Amino acid sequence: MLEMLKAQPADKILALMQAFRDDPRTDKIDLGVGVYKNAEGHTPVMRAVKAAERRLVETQDTKAYTGLLGDPAYSDAMREMILGDAVAADRVSCAATPGGTGAIRQALELIKMAAPEATVWLSAPTWPNHPSIIKYLGMKMAEYRYFDDATRDVDFAGMMADLDRIAEGDVVLLHGCCHNPTGANLTLEHWQVVSDHLNAKGAIPFIDIAYQGFGDGLDADAAGTRLMARNASQMLIAASCSKNFGIYRERTGLVMAIADNAAMKPVTQGTLAYLNRQNYSFPPDHGARVVTMILNDPELRADWMAELEEVRLGMLSLRKHLAEELRQRSNSDRFDFIADHRGMFSRLGATPEQVEKMRADDGIYMIGDSRINIAGLNARTIPVLAQAIIDAGV
Ligand code: LMR
Repeated sequence: MLEMLKAQPADKILALMQAFRDDPRTDKIDLGVGVYKNAEGHTPVMRAVKAAERRLVETQDTKAYTGLLGDPAYSDAMREMILGDAVAADRVSCAATPGGTGAIRQALELIKMAAPEATVWLSAPTWPNHPSIIKYLGMKMAEYRYFDDATRDVDFAGMMADLDRIAEGDVVLLHGCCHNPTGANLTLEHWQVVSDHLNAKGAIPFIDIAYQGFGDGLDADAAGTRLMARNASQMLIAASCSKNFGIYRERTGLVMAIADNAAMKPVTQGTLAYLNRQNYSFPPDHGARVVTMILNDPELRADWMAELEEVRLGMLSLRKHLAEELRQRSNSDRFDFIADHRGMFSRLGATPEQVEKMRADDGIYMIGDSRINIAGLNARTIPVLAQAIIDAGV
């Protein structure tokens, strides 16, 4: 049997992580995988997470199974954080999942069960794991234009022209904020237009929100998702706590399915429970419990929000610094988009050859499509990157 297996293509983000580790140069710069790092290049455990974990160790008196959907208190706290009061709780089914990827996978499986013929529309470009999982599940997919290589902003006219081709019952996957890999985001006016368009077409929005709090703030980053939720009769959401709580390895995510009305909730929620049972039975609990404790405890919540805000503002200031450095070195404003983008990533618009040159000559690791992780930079490395970008002829 095993001799029948074929080597699978490497995930380009994870392959780059390995290549960076294997590079013996001591002054190498890692701008690859989307993991937050402070100025010392460290990914710290957030203060509120440590405090909640300490409390949990002291007070937890059982490790018996929770429910198939996870702890309802976790779902409630997350639903409130993401949706606010945009939708009545009795329309929203939730399941805890292993990370944001687990939430995406469960949402896709639900789509496959309910509408096996539906096409899932992805932004071009998008996070590579989106098409990879859809392909693995044997589902139909299509792309809509999203990024304008010339302006390094959203190609909204192109996006809407492509979304004109969606059929009734199709699913459109959107990034809730901090678009990965480009860093270019929809305005609220754009969200409204897309939402009205999907409603007119009878298509279903599916929002991947993995960086809430990394762009313009916790509420501002959810504004597009909330607008769409208010306007849609059905919607899917995949959320991740990896980044905003810094608990990457705890695999803490949530899938939400918003139905037309409360009467549809039992079957929708039951389907999410069934899917959890088929795939991994009970979802991981530790990260979810820590997140619940933080969100429900005013003191822990305030401290977490303060630290998240420090992280967000730190990334914004790195963006400004890099844009200024490039303005000086290029004698132009053509890199100002870096300061306008939001979240962890920006796509520089370099060719694969230029990306390779920066890696070979300067030990700078970015994804082949020239996505950089802003959080991988610091005051010392910004001038190095800026000069490398100029030297590579970007
Ligand atoms: C990324 O895009 O780098 C992150 O979402 C990490 C991952 O799993 O790819």
